[in-house]
Amino acid sequence: MKRSLILTAFIAATLSLHSKAEETSLGQKVFERRCSGCHSLDRDKEGPRLRGVYGRRSGATPTFLYSEGLRKAQISWDEASLDRWLTDPEKLVPDTDMGFRLTNPDERKQIIAYLKQLSNCRSTAGC
Ligand code: HEC
Repeated sequence: MKRSLILTAFIAATLSLHSKAEETSLGQKVFERRCSGCHSLDRDKEGPRLRGVYGRRSGATPTFLYSEGLRKAQISWDEASLDRWLTDPEKLVPDTDMGFRLTNPDERKQIIAYLKQLSNCRSTAGC
């Protein structure tokens, strides 16, 4: 009985690790497809560079000229705020320059997992 419980817990942990890794690698593909026209990880394009954005404050890349709205917004980028941002940037920051919405909730989740992993935040509690 006890043994099978341990086994079940082990399998569950392995499965959840596996799906996290899968989510992250899907996120990289979605990022390339949906975001890389305007964003790169390590240089500014039409949008700011995004490596390390998870866990950081909004508008904090010194080399990028943000909209006044985003510069003043003081959002902390975590799972919830990024999800709201990608769903509808204008709703979160009314005069933002990011004119793009990601309507698919699975794709948002995958991209956020990818950005999170790039910030080395692997714990579910965030960082
Ligand atoms: C059409 C161009 C465009 C696309 C496509 C785009 N963005 Fe942006 N993004 C911008 C611009 C421009 C800004 C700066 C907005 C401002 O200053 O108000 C921005 C800002 C951001 C920020 C805030 C960064 C910070 O330093 O505070 C995040 C996070 C972000 N984008 C994520 C994404 C993700 C993830 C995708 C893909 C799903 C994406 N963006 C697609 C143009 C774009």
